[in-house]
Parts: sequence; structure tokens; C-alpha cells
Amino acid sequence: MPLVTTTEMFKKAYEGGYAVGAFNVNNMEIVQGITEACQEQKAPVVLQVSKGARAYANHTYLVKMVEAAVQECPDIPIALHLDHGPDFETCKSCIDGGFTSVMIDCSSKPFDENVEITKKVVEYAHAHGVVVEAELGTLAGVEDDVQVSAEDSSYTHPEEVEEFVTRTGCDSLAIAIGTSHGAYKFTPEQCTRNEQGILVPPPLRFDVLEEVSKRLPGFPIVLHGSSSVPQNFVDIINAHGGKMPDAIGIPEEELRKAASMSVCKINIDSDIRLAITATIREYFDEHPDHFDPRQYLKPARQAVKDMVAHKLVHVLGCNGKA
Ligand code: G3H
Ligand code: 13P
Ligand code: ZN
Repeated sequence: MPLVTTTEMFKKAYEGGYAVGAFNVNNMEIVQGITEACQEQKAPVVLQVSKGARAYANHTYLVKMVEAAVQECPDIPIALHLDHGPDFETCKSCIDGGFTSVMIDCSSKPFDENVEITKKVVEYAHAHGVVVEAELGTLAGVEDDVQVSAEDSSYTHPEEVEEFVTRTGCDSLAIAIGTSHGAYKFTPEQCTRNEQGILVPPPLRFDVLEEVSKRLPGFPIVLHGSSSVPQNFVDIINAHGGKMPDAIGIPEEELRKAASMSVCKINIDSDIRLAITATIREYFDEHPDHFDPRQYLKPARQAVKDMVAHKLVHVLGCNGKA
């Protein structure tokens, strides 16, 4: 099937109590690892491209790689999405350039300005058969060149969501309930420790999610910053010359709970980076004489595939839903 929008996949996810995975793509191995897992698990998927990904890999290369994945995986719906579109022009360029979904992220701007720019993107996108994700509330962390400190982040105000969705006409809404971007989502001071001395992060604000869903019944909600930062990857990285002390993510059971509620799209990027980095660091340590990129990119691609397959089945619940 050709590239699809997220409309149908979100409708089924909402009704079925699961979420679709939205994975960031930056190169061929990442596209292959993700889509091979989704094809095997019969899972719908969103492949998303950030401004940084377009700068790194080039818009055309990314679109063509995703088109190749569509051809190789004929049994699953695949949407091509712009992640964190910073302005109208970037969204327009992706809409004109073959994307089926865009995010306009004006969450750091005042409410009325966010509404105004989002509405403009929605009008253009809908006229071209493309859907739009918008955002209310700000997440801590780094995305492209925007760095938001934990103090400047703020949870979504549920009392704003109906007006925002009505005025903008957006198709899905990313909200802030305590997730954040990157591999350091919480400081050790924000966490408690369990009996084994392992850091336990503060819980997500499910009360905010519930209040938002009550005000927007049936409307698809998106969670950014949802990598779980698997400790086995962090341990491998640290054991092979890396330095990622106190890297910590969102516990899988919290993501499972969100997926069973109104969250229809869960964004994962950092876990892909960790899977690749852990695999390559270990490989280099074990094979200091190897220098053919295919030798170490092959297991790195397999690690992405295994990690994604685990998420589809054990976190998102979207396996078998294609
Ligand atoms: O939300 C941020 C994503 O992880 C994309 O990261 O902007 O470095 O490509 P990037
Ligand atoms: P992570 O950094 O938690 O993987 O979040 C990715 C994301 O939200 C992309 O938009
Ligand atoms: Zn994000």
C-alpha cells in the first residue's frame, strides 16, 4: 500500500487501546531496522523526520528511503511525518515534498501565536491531504537547536485544549505530562531508589492526561520524549568506553498505561541511538581490526530491529494491528 496518513491508524489505536510507534529516522539502517520489525510484527508505524534529520541526510534521501521501505513492506501502513516542524515554511516544504503528516511545534510560543501558526499549517496541510500534529505544553530536553530546561518546561493546561483544537483544526495533539527528550529525563535528585538501589523516576501526570481526554473525547493524543532508556544499552555503552552516568527514561509500564488510554502515538528516538551506540562500541572493542562499516552496521541495524520489535509487542501493543 502507498504511504498513508495517520487518520485511520489513530482511530483504530484509540478504539483498540494501543498506540502506534513513531520512530525517528536518520539513515538507511534505522529505516530498515524499524520497518523490518514492523513488517514481521504486522504493526502500523510512523516514520518521523526532524529538521536535524533533513539537515543531516537530505530531504530527498529520506523520502526515497521511506518509499523503499513502503515497497519492501507491502502489508503494513506507514506514515511519513515531520517531527517538531519549527515554522510554516518547513511544514510546507514537507507537505509539498511527499510527507503525509506534519507536526507544527509552536509550544514555546504564547497561546494565541501557537493557534495562529498551527491554523495556517492545518489549512495548507488539509488542502493537500496531509494531517497535522500540534503541541500544547513544553517538554524539558533538547530538540534540534531548542534546549528547554526542566524549570522552563510546563505541563499542558487541560482547560486550554478544547479551544486550541477547535480554533486550529489540528488532527492530533502532543501534550506535556512529565516526559522529556533525550537520555537524561530525570536528575537523580528527582528520583527515588528502590530496594536494589535502582533509580525510580517520578510518575507521569496521568491526571492531566485523563482531564485532557475527558475534554477531547475520541481525540488522538501524542506523547513525545518516550524512550525508556534501556539500562542494558547504557551498561554496554559504559562498559565499552562510553560515559553516560545516570541516563534514565520513562518506565515501560507507564508507557503501556498511556497507550491503553487516549495516547495513540508514542515517540521514540533516543532508544534507537542507544541501541546503535551500544552495539557499535561493543563491536569495536571486540573487533579492533575490523574497518568495514557493513561489519558493525549490520549488528547495529539488528539491535534497532530487536528493540523496536520489543516495543511493538510489550509497550505499544500495536503488533498484529496492521
Ligand atoms: O525530539 C527530538 C528528536 O529526538 C529528534 O532529535 O532534532 O536531534 O533529530 P533531532
Ligand atoms: P526520546 O528522546 O525520548 O526518544 O523522544 C523522541 C521524540 O519525542 C521525538 O519527537
Ligand atoms: Zn519530540
